[in-house]
Amino acid sequence: MITRKSEREIEEMKKSGKLLASIHEALRDFIKPGVTGMEVDQFFEKRIKEAGGIPAQIGYEGYKYATCVSVNDEICHGFPTDYAFKDGDIVKVDTVIDLDGAFSDSCWCYAVGNISDEAKHLMDVTRKCLYRGIAVAKPGNRIGDIGAVIQEYAESEGFSVVKEFVGHGIGPTMHEEPAIPHYGKANTGLRLRPGMTITIEPMINTGHWKSKIDDNGWTARTIDGGLSAQYEHTIAITEDEPIILTKQKGQ
Ligand code: MF3
Ligand code: CO
Repeated sequence: MITRKSEREIEEMKKSGKLLASIHEALRDFIKPGVTGMEVDQFFEKRIKEAGGIPAQIGYEGYKYATCVSVNDEICHGFPTDYAFKDGDIVKVDTVIDLDGAFSDSCWCYAVGNISDEAKHLMDVTRKCLYRGIAVAKPGNRIGDIGAVIQEYAESEGFSVVKEFVGHGIGPTMHEEPAIPHYGKANTGLRLRPGMTITIEPMINTGHWKSKIDDNGWTARTIDGGLSAQYEHTIAITEDEPIILTKQKGQ
């Protein structure tokens, strides 16, 4: 079932998203060579709880951590570990907050020290994929329009789009209908309507789009060892421009 949220519900989600965005903003100066994924996880968990929120990923389908911390060829659902980030790594930090029953979900990709030109290009294109997808998330357009603009742009830059993981509806729960693929054909799929709240979260690879899952049953990584980047916002569709509920300063 696809629900459309009231203005009041969207206001609550705005607060949740604002908290999540503020922690990502604070993380910018925290991530550097030598910092571990576990430290990033604690950084998030502490700040979420201090603000009265619940780190909603803990306990979700048996997941144990507040965040997913996915490094280099890890696409998503990386576990935070004691691995210390090295100069040149790219790190995706993804988390979901439940603030007074309103969920928000956002992943951001961080460069550790000096990264390669290829990694810079990938991060730049992936972030633009997210914003291009958001730009067409308007009433009258369809879900396929979001995937089409993302796929077209990513592939025109020589990259590929992960197909196994998709965006989703979100609101009083973490994962709701509809699914939002980051690939597809324009003018296909469900029509977007005001009040729908969804995530757009493209995962873009330098090599093949396919992923494999680690023995831990969670972590997805590229089959060819290529790099993967991801950026994710929670947005609300309105009569006019979409509202980016997890918008960060300067982004
Ligand atoms: N934040 C993820 C998403 O974008 C959800 C992670 S599932 C979890 O949908 F189990 F790791 F929490
Ligand atoms: Co997420």
